[in-house]
Amino acid sequence: MSGFVVWFTGLPCAGKSTLAGRLGQALRECGVGAEVLDGDEVRGTLTRDLGFSREDRDENIRRIAWVAKVLARNGTVAITAAISPYRAARDQARREIGRFVEVYVKCPVETCMQRDVKGLYARALRGELPCFTGVSDPYEEPVHPEVTVETDRQTPDESLETILTYLERAGWLRSGAVAVHLPAYVVAHLRRAWGDGPLESQIVEVLLRHVTVADDPVGAEEREAIIGRLRGLGYLE
Ligand code: ADX
Repeated sequence: MSGFVVWFTGLPCAGKSTLAGRLGQALRECGVGAEVLDGDEVRGTLTRDLGFSREDRDENIRRIAWVAKVLARNGTVAITAAISPYRAARDQARREIGRFVEVYVKCPVETCMQRDVKGLYARALRGELPCFTGVSDPYEEPVHPEVTVETDRQTPDESLETILTYLERAGWLRSGAVAVHLPAYVVAHLRRAWGDGPLESQIVEVLLRHVTVADDPVGAEEREAIIGRLRGLGYLE
């Protein structure tokens, strides 16, 4: 599968790191190589020399975008989780990278303030942090992100599902499905049994019958979810 970049953006405490981590884990569980570049971690290493002026934030984004691009061109899904508050810097990253999916992690600033995981909103509100995003520094919302998740209304599981569904439907993950090389004699046998139709869809049908027989461990709800997803991917009418 070709690599690409999933670029999370949103206010501090909106849920970027949580979702980026969950997405990375979900992809790896499916056998897709994924690497998370988290703003906090990157700022402790690669961009340690930078602060929070517009110039420094833009430079932070430029460096993250460069690493993400290198990872993606080596077949990895690079997942970035930085506030990336300026639209121009995100658009520049999109142009540089090409294979780019922007995920807006949307959450009202009041909710982010209540979460205040690191106590930074409280400090900013007391006037101790002069340019804290959402309080004393701007955040420019994406205009046309590929995906928007609303973390004040959805559970992390629901947001993850939204993102994965988008990636699947838009074809980013399709070729990442398990590739099975069938020996020629097996293919010949299947052709004799099934005729000339597309082999893949017939195999999917057979596998589907396996997971949807009445007495198997898959419950009715899960069965519906599987069928819905296969339909969404175009495997079923
Ligand atoms: S970005 O604006 O350059 O994209 P980035 O995501 O890398 O920011 O870093 C944000 C993290 O830095 C926050 O999670 C927070 O812990 C910390 N931080 C410290 N000072 C600030 C500030 N003034 N504004 C935003 N985040 C800050």
